[in-house]
This record gives sequence, C-alpha cells and structure tokens, in this order.
Amino acid sequence: MPRYPMQSHKPRLVVQNVSRSFGGRAVVRDLSLVVEAGQLTCLLGPSGCGKSTTLRMVAGVEEPDQGRILIDGEEVFGPGVRLPPEARGVGLMFQDFALFPHLTVAQNVAFGLRKGEGRAARVDELLERVNLSGFQAKHPHELSGGEQQRVALARALAPRPRVMLMDEPFSGLDNRLRDGIRDATLDLLKEEGTAVVLVTHEPGEAMRMADEIALMRDGVIVQRGAPYNVYNAPVDRAAAAFFSDINVIRGQSRGALTQTPFGAFLTPGQTDGAAVDIVIRPQHLKIDFDRAGRGPNPTIQDGTAARGLVTRARFLGHESLVEFRMDHDGSTLTAAVPGVFLPKPGTALWLMIRRDRCFVFPA
Ligand SMILES: Nc1ncnc2c1ncn2[C@@H]1O[C@H](COP(=O)(O)OP(=O)(O)O)[C@@H](O)[C@H]1O
Ligand SMILES: [Mg+2]
Repeated sequence: MPRYPMQSHKPRLVVQNVSRSFGGRAVVRDLSLVVEAGQLTCLLGPSGCGKSTTLRMVAGVEEPDQGRILIDGEEVFGPGVRLPPEARGVGLMFQDFALFPHLTVAQNVAFGLRKGEGRAARVDELLERVNLSGFQAKHPHELSGGEQQRVALARALAPRPRVMLMDEPFSGLDNRLRDGIRDATLDLLKEEGTAVVLVTHEPGEAMRMADEIALMRDGVIVQRGAPYNVYNAPVDRAAAAFFSDINVIRGQSRGALTQTPFGAFLTPGQTDGAAVDIVIRPQHLKIDFDRAGRGPNPTIQDGTAARGLVTRARFLGHESLVEFRMDHDGSTLTAAVPGVFLPKPGTALWLMIRRDRCFVFPA
C-alpha cells in the first residue's frame, strides 16, 4: 500500500531564541524570527541595536551563544550543530559588496556556480533581469555604482540561495538612484522566491521593501508586523518616533479620560492619575483658520481646537512643514501639510487632533 504522509509545513528560515554577547554585553537577546520563502523581512532599528550581528549569525560567520537556526527545517545551528556558511545555502549582500576587480561581469556572476551546463545561461538570464544584458565582458571599474550593485545582486542570486541576507545594501548608492534600484531588486527577489532578511536603519526603506518589519532596539525585536501596522499601531512612543517626527501632549488620565487643551481623549487602561503621552504624527494635526473672527470649526472627530502662532514654515517638496508655538503653554507643535502651505511667522492658526490618528502611551 502506498502511503502519503502529510508534509508538515517548514518555513524557509526559523531563528529561535538566539542570543549573542560581546565582552559580557548582550547585543542580541533571545531573538526569534520566521521568514517564509518569497517573503522579505526587514530588521529595522538604530545603529548598534544588533541588526548586523543577527544577520551574521544566520549567515554563519558569527556564532550565537545560544539558540537554534533552521533553514527548510534543517538545523544549521543548534546544540552540537554548526554548519559553515557555504553549506547553508544563503546568499549574502553587504554594504561594501566588493566585486572581484580582475574578473569580468560574467565571471563575477558565475563565481558561485558550478562549472557545467546551464552556467552561462544562468549568468545571461540574471544579467538580463538586472538590465545589464551585453555587460558580460566589462570589468567592474567600467560600471557605475548602481550597475555594480546590480551585478552584485545577480552574483548573490545566481546559485539560487534558499535565504538571501542583505545588510544595508543600498546605503552606498546615490540618493537619486536608490529608489529605482530598490524596486528592481525587490522585483527580482520576488521572482526568485527566496526568503530575504534585509537590514536597514532607514524606516522609509523598510516601508518600501518589507512584507514584515521587525523593529529592533537594544538587541530585542520590540514590534513586528506589516509596514502599515507597525507605522499605524506603534507599541510605544519610541517605536512611533522611529518612523517620523512626533508631537507629544502630556496629560493625566482620570476615569479613562485625559483632559487637554485639545479636548478630552479616551485613555482606557491607564492607571488613574497616571501621566500619559498622546502622540500624534505631524501629518495628522489638522489646521484651521480663524474664519473672520468666528473661530475654527472642528468636527467631533477633531475634538477641541487650540490656537498657536506660526514660528516657521518650510516647503519640502511633497509637503510643507509648519511649526507653531501654542498659546496655552508655549510648547512647539509641528504640522505637515500636503503641497504648498507657507503661512507667515506670527500668523494665528488653530490646531486639532484627529482622535483616530493619535496614539496613547503611559508617560
Ligand atoms: N565582533 C564584535 N566584537 C565586539 N563588539 C561587537 C562586535 N560586533 C558587534 N559588536 C557590538 O555589538 C553591537 C551591535 O552591533 P551590530 O549588530 O553591528 O549593530 P547594527 O548592525 O544594528 O548597527 C554594537 O554595540 C557593536 O559595537
Ligand atoms: Mg549594521
């Protein structure tokens, strides 16, 4: 009788409770991660939070003090198991992705491929997909930075790695080139269907590239989720502040309400009498005019309007940034307005806070 065993699902990459210390200081603490084939997870966080160390442990060039790492269900690191980097089936791309200067483009891309049938075809295929058809015989010094980056990507992907590990791969590139190369890279990674871990300290890059963002701080993942969720439901004030400038209004919670010059905010779950921070991103402050002395016209969603004087207004291209000194306490609030909005310093305007766009945290 033939048997058809159920194939249990094995994620492409599993990192389980991995820790690493240097000189007694824990730089990665009990970190766990799952990345499916075809998915891109961004490790996002400030410099020094342990992103590269995490990536290097997955690659096998750094050893965890404890924990397990599995690729397609196979343990590549664990108690008594320590697969060398070349046996893990991972592709690497780092910030300073040096190409071999004495090799041609084709030789660079073919570097990790076994000799034999299909080798040249794979090189040609990848060069075509990074838009470098016809560059086979050129040498790295004949290429622009962006072209070199695409060759490096083709080289890393040529052996069809099970997991692609990328550490700030775009940070050496000209700003104007970056978004185009990011998008082209993402397209190719998706076509190849490899699992990707991409390290970056730039929230914009993570938002643009990631299926899932793992936000790191001090060696720990503090929040993970789709870019939309991490941006719109930050776990704490620092997580909110990592993605944009924020405005903070401090208040005191009483009976699940916090009274502010912008009206009352629902602050359920906060201890009675506890200080709370109401956090709002600049684009979610609403501005209104004096309406010829009749004052502003807030909706229920907007709460109460508070008046401030413009101290500075700047046009940033896609939006204008307007800073206010508030009448009630002299504090500074910043509003971002789409397009051109440049009121003169000293102009009195009214600010409102959209209740569905603010975050409440214990102070
Ligand atoms: N080989 C090492 N020896 C000692 N300290 C290290 C080593 N590698 C990294 N660190 C330290 O660990 C911390 C995390 O580094 P890293 O993982 O490179 O952070 P990130 O990539 O997030 O900027 C930093 O404080 C760094 O100085
Ligand atoms: Mg780093």
